[in-house]
Amino acid sequence: KERTYIMLKPDAVNRRLIGEILSRFEKRGYNVVGLKVLTPSRELAEAHYAEHKERPFFKGLVDFLTSGPVVAIVIEGDNAVATARTMIGVTKPQASAPGTIRGDLSIDVGRNIIHGSDSVESARREIGLWFRPVEIVDFKPVDHAWVYEK
Ligand code: GTP
Ligand code: MG
Repeated sequence: KERTYIMLKPDAVNRRLIGEILSRFEKRGYNVVGLKVLTPSRELAEAHYAEHKERPFFKGLVDFLTSGPVVAIVIEGDNAVATARTMIGVTKPQASAPGTIRGDLSIDVGRNIIHGSDSVESARREIGLWFRPVEIVDFKPVDHAWVYEK
């Protein structure tokens, strides 16, 4: 049972795409086990994107992420990290296939609406950064056998 960190960025919230995007993960069979809306502090946004701190777009990225509310989400299910990245598409929305979240709902790399952890290790770090352990639920949905063979 794998978990990944998904974040709907301020463009997604301002464009009222929360339900549209969350429903894609739910319909696929993933469970939402952590969910909250918050406007991130600069410190949190910088820690989240620490790997990019030397990149020219870093300041703009942090300015944008702290400009309004984001939705912080923990998604759980088989191969959640890699499958979510496939569902999201690639970094540049114009290179993302139709059917992907970015490919269907965005145009600009600086307004690509959603974040997804890029590895199981990143997911662990990011979930720890955005959530306290008590904010994540432990449960087994009753339809488990209708989503998974085993
Ligand atoms: P995230 O899921 O948000 O981490 O995106 P990603 O993993 O597809 O891309 P990456 O981690 O390399 O970059 C993080 C974010 O920085 C991207 O989602 C973009 O919003 C932004 N970004 C990356 N490359 C560029 C760029 O060349 N120009 C600008 N303006 N923003 C960029
Ligand atoms: Mg990334």
